[in-house]
Amino acid sequence: QSIGVVGFPFSKGQPRTGAELGPGALREAGLVSQLESLGNHVIDFGDVELEPVSRDEPVMGVKNPLAVGTANKKLSDAVTKLLKQNQSIITLGGDHSMAIGSIHGHAQVEPDLVIVWVDAHADIHTPLTSPSGNIHGMPLSFLARELQDYVPDLPGFDWCSPCISVHDIAYIGLRDVDPAERAIIEKFGICSYSMQEVDKFGIREVVDRALQQLDPSGTRPIHLSFDVDGMDPSLTPSTGTPVPGGLSLRETLYLAEKIAETGRLSVLDVAEVNPALGTDDKKQMTLSNTVDVTTTFFGRHRQGNAPHGYEIP
Ligand code: ARG
Ligand code: MN
Ligand code: MN
Ligand code: MN
Repeated sequence: QSIGVVGFPFSKGQPRTGAELGPGALREAGLVSQLESLGNHVIDFGDVELEPVSRDEPVMGVKNPLAVGTANKKLSDAVTKLLKQNQSIITLGGDHSMAIGSIHGHAQVEPDLVIVWVDAHADIHTPLTSPSGNIHGMPLSFLARELQDYVPDLPGFDWCSPCISVHDIAYIGLRDVDPAERAIIEKFGICSYSMQEVDKFGIREVVDRALQQLDPSGTRPIHLSFDVDGMDPSLTPSTGTPVPGGLSLRETLYLAEKIAETGRLSVLDVAEVNPALGTDDKKQMTLSNTVDVTTTFFGRHRQGNAPHGYEIP
């Protein structure tokens, strides 16, 4: 299948520099060649070109609204354009504010998409409920129609029309959910499998139930938004907001294998890799685990992959 890769070297959705180095580091770790060696046709479209924003004062406590808004408009346009030419797109972040542009752009081509959100965090704060003012903790509130009454206009976001329903979201891996976020999840009955449910039912049941609830017919395109902090920080330590007690490598790979099996993965976000955090060892571990998970979403099997058309010599 044809996969387009696009980088989003952006980190102003949160305070730590380094997440803008994610796309380059993932490429350097061999992501594109490993996807190709599985028989995928991969086109690397490079990075979205971002321009510096001069004046960007906080608005209602929200930090860098203009930078986040304008950068995500560019990502949205890129995803829309590239999805018309490729079966699937991988967006390489960048902090998780990237989901605003990525999902918005995806929805312009596939308005019937569903979202599987793999993360320690729910990232559904509104600008008014966020304790931090960091937009990487808010992307879903800008996108969900049901939340628009709660989301004030911010500079840089005029283009961002809501394009999903809260009922199109399923969370997997949550374990650091702020009180206002939990209230939103409960008020709207958002599908949520926290680490408690992963412990209780196992990852197999969690993935089955999430996909069944989002799309009983099994026909809708999938947007998989993968925050690397969904995995345990022993596996992906180089990330800005690590939370202990996360998904194991086996749980994450199982999830990725099942998503790949659906044949409906349309856009994959790889968010919150920060190569500037941690020792060199930790950075290498973060990159290699993230590359392994990413390739698994696109056909790598733990049972091994026989080369296409291979003749045993
Ligand atoms: N809930 C916290 C906040 O609003 C943390 C968000 C972390 N988000 C992330 N994409 N890593 O600041
Ligand atoms: Mn997170
Ligand atoms: Mn928190
Ligand atoms: Mn996140």
